[in-house]
Amino acid sequence: MKLFDVYPLFDIAIDHGKGCHVTDTEGVEYLDLYGGHAVISIGHSHPRYLEALNRQAAKLVFYSNSVINPLQQQLADLLGEASGYPDYQLFLVNSGAEANENALKLASFVTGRRRVIAFSKAFHGRTSLAVEATDNPKIQAPVNRNDVVTVLPWNDTEALARELEKEDVAAVIIEPIQGVGGIQVASDEFLKTIRELTSAHGTLMITDEIQCGYGRSGRFFAHQYSGVRPDIITMAKGIANGFPMGGLLIAPDIKPVYGMLGTTFGGNHLACAAAIAVLEVMKDENLLANVTETGNYLMEQLKGLPGVREVRGRGLMIGIEMEEPMKQLRSDLIHKEHIFTGASGTNVIRLLPPLCLTRDEADRFISSFRKLLGVG
Ligand SMILES: Cc1ncc(COP(=O)(O)O)c(C=O)c1O
Repeated sequence: MKLFDVYPLFDIAIDHGKGCHVTDTEGVEYLDLYGGHAVISIGHSHPRYLEALNRQAAKLVFYSNSVINPLQQQLADLLGEASGYPDYQLFLVNSGAEANENALKLASFVTGRRRVIAFSKAFHGRTSLAVEATDNPKIQAPVNRNDVVTVLPWNDTEALARELEKEDVAAVIIEPIQGVGGIQVASDEFLKTIRELTSAHGTLMITDEIQCGYGRSGRFFAHQYSGVRPDIITMAKGIANGFPMGGLLIAPDIKPVYGMLGTTFGGNHLACAAAIAVLEVMKDENLLANVTETGNYLMEQLKGLPGVREVRGRGLMIGIEMEEPMKQLRSDLIHKEHIFTGASGTNVIRLLPPLCLTRDEADRFISSFRKLLGVG
């Protein structure tokens, strides 16, 4: 049987990983500044994580959401403390798109409305309404185009005010730092204005923290730089360090009703064990502080290099916008320097390493990058 060929692939098969490194089937080791697309948070094959997964797998991998799963409450308690949202409610799912689908659906249930506002260059996932809220017609099928979503320009608060005044919008969904869109940081003012306008017009504010959340920005959630409290926060990627999982944090005033949301696999025992280990390691290894320190260092070192137009981001979510298309540069980073990075559009290299990236590893990247730019 053939694989359904939808992914353009590098000709590399990763065999194993450790910390911020991965090794291919030929034995070549790579520095991983991509984190498998921002998914690896505490590092590949962290011993505490492996121990937690092995222990849980030996006991119970899965049982359904029709019985009490104490690991879900343990995770909720740890997450409430780590995120600063102990009063919010947790609903667990399996992926980022599923988290956003449920967030938008919940907003529609709560408000009784059916319109959604998203922003230009947004990426919210590839399913149903999440993909309609994604500003890329190429990945929307006709069945996804239901005229439910209005895409507004980034930072255009006047356009937002005009739409919200109609009082028919269920939710405004925003990535506090756009990932796929090229590492665009929403200003504090923009987020605050969204909060004020949504509150004034009975609309819910959803922050999609699937890529920029869970410590990646140096705060637990990227929107926390602005001080706003969204109604719903969506999470995935780093939440379980590679084990498929997603979740929603839901404001205390949103009342649950039996059956309004549900999933077979969401919040299963093995996923919860993985997510608990992630939060314990993040705390014990003080990873948020490392993210800020190493991220600031990287950004300082990258700014002003020849050929670099702009360096954007926060923490270990960094976009390096090149003056010229970066395809060859990124390919040289992988094939000659053995460093994985991400990409966005034609000119932006994205750095999304594990949150445990060390200063030495950052230096290794900087020296390779400088070498490829011809700066020695
Ligand atoms: C901001 C954001 N939202 C949603 C998603 C979708 O997540 P998933 O691929 O787990 O469905 C992604 C994935 O890249 C993302 O970056």
